Amino acid sequence: MSNLLKYTPITTDDISQLMPIENTCHSHPWTEKTFSSCIGGRYFGEKLAETTEKIIGFYVGEFVVDEATLMDICVDPTEQSKGYGKKLLHHFIEQAKAKGAIKIWLEVRAKNISAQMLYMNAGFIEISRRTGYYPSSKGFGYEDAIVMSLKL
Ligand SMILES: CC(C)(COP(=O)(O)OP(=O)(O)OC[C@H]1O[C@@H](n2cnc3c(N)ncnc32)[C@H](O)[C@@H]1OP(=O)(O)O)[C@@H](O)C(=O)NCCC(=O)NCCS
Repeated sequence: MSNLLKYTPITTDDISQLMPIENTCHSHPWTEKTFSSCIGGRYFGEKLAETTEKIIGFYVGEFVVDEATLMDICVDPTEQSKGYGKKLLHHFIEQAKAKGAIKIWLEVRAKNISAQMLYMNAGFIEISRRTGYYPSSKGFGYEDAIVMSLKL
């Protein structure tokens, strides 16, 4: 893994570069409009890139009062399973702590086992399930959401 990695805050100028990663990572990706509505204000996001400017991945968080929510986390599929997701998640947790968060929340698809493993290994625990919350990634039917949280 390169040690020339850098995190930089996501701005609206990044959206066109981040959308291809968003689109390949999710069966129901954010639109550009949704992405841009999650930049600035109570939202905080960072992208992880090599100095070559190739973006490896990103996360978007939300901070309200004393709690943070992980809204999105993606690693370019060509860069997955190399430890970058773990780095991004830990960076998000540190940023949330620095803002004063005492708890972090997230929702994950019941069938997204790799993301659940990532979160559980970071100390998140399952709090509840939302039955049929997501449209299924298979294009028909619905899928449960698992709500997880981490006390900081
Ligand atoms: C979830 C995601 C961010 C993980 O990023 P990644 O760079 O592949 O993950 P890492 O290589 O850092 O692995 C971190 C941990 O995730 C888990 N993990 C990653 N890939 C896995 C796989 N194929 N199967 C099972 N667990 C896996 C493991 O617990 C791993 O820790 P370990 O290597 O110590 O066992 C990435 O797969 C992704 O972008 N997925 C699509 C978008 C998405 O689902 N986002 C989450 C929405 S809630």
